[in-house]
Amino acid sequence: MEFPLVRKRRLRRTETIRRMVRETKLSVDDLVAPLFIVPGSNIKKPISSMPEQYHLSADTVSRECAELFDLGIPAVILFGIPESKDETGSQAIKSDGVIQNAIREIKKSSPGLTVITDICLCEYTSHGHCGVLKEKDVDNDATLELLAKMAISHAEAGADIVAPSDMMDGRVGAIREALDANNLENIAIMSYAAKYASAYYGPFREAADSTPQFGDRRTYQMDPPNAREALHEIQLDESEGADIVMVKPALAYLDIIRQIRDNTLLPVAAYNVSGEYSMIMHAAEKGLIDGDRVMIETLTSIKRAGAEIILSYFARRISEMLGNKG
Ligand code: PBG
Ligand code: ZN
Repeated sequence: MEFPLVRKRRLRRTETIRRMVRETKLSVDDLVAPLFIVPGSNIKKPISSMPEQYHLSADTVSRECAELFDLGIPAVILFGIPESKDETGSQAIKSDGVIQNAIREIKKSSPGLTVITDICLCEYTSHGHCGVLKEKDVDNDATLELLAKMAISHAEAGADIVAPSDMMDGRVGAIREALDANNLENIAIMSYAAKYASAYYGPFREAADSTPQFGDRRTYQMDPPNAREALHEIQLDESEGADIVMVKPALAYLDIIRQIRDNTLLPVAAYNVSGEYSMIMHAAEKGLIDGDRVMIETLTSIKRAGAEIILSYFARRISEMLGNKG
């Protein structure tokens, strides 16, 4: 059958018909809100590289979380900026560290909200790399031990899911084993399985104060031109016990999201990263684009590519929009 019998425009004629045949629908259920935690109290300080995002102390973040939960957002992911940094990132595993304290506060006020924590040392090390150094290189195996301790410490404070973002080899297995050995077998691992060495993390590094002091992350994060290698990373993380696998960034890697969706039985997450967020926010501020429409179009594309979980700084804004419509 073809034109004039077939007219595709019939099903585009009205908004209600379009709604009936819409293939992909964003929902608050899809969203995870990233939050940045700093020491202290009563702090809500704008992050200059990321409009409408804030550095929050444990008390203000727990209020923010209660609001996000009310809006229907199921989960948050926490990043910590510690009091002080050192060579080995020792603040990351302190039981009264910035993240550990925040988790306890959030769980007091919003026990039903899923708390995910980022597991990586770059916010905690003085050199800004994601692990401990040997000479001028990140020592893979020595880092595993610290990541496992960090995961235990977060889980003991009440985290529901830990999310290693360091890209060391073997870290999912090391974390799984350590959690299980500490009666934390019900804590899930969301692995940043295919994390690329991307320039889209720029605004985040200012927000988290985690820019490497020398070199870059290309010896541990993936090379952007590679796709088949992402499938291998997924396979390895799956076999080490990952419960959810993530692709990061999202937009320049929609093809990777699709390939991974078609090659694993696990839930697939995608991280709509800081650069993707700030580009839209700044273009919208300048009046170049309709920010809200571009936001919805962008996140819908990530879902259409195959992600069922989307980590995004737009989480709050979208939930407010979806809530108003529903
Ligand atoms: C830490 C980490 C980064 C992001 C999440 N976890 C930065 C990096 O790897 O340099 C980026 C998030 C974003 O850009 O929104 N390893
Ligand atoms: Zn890192």
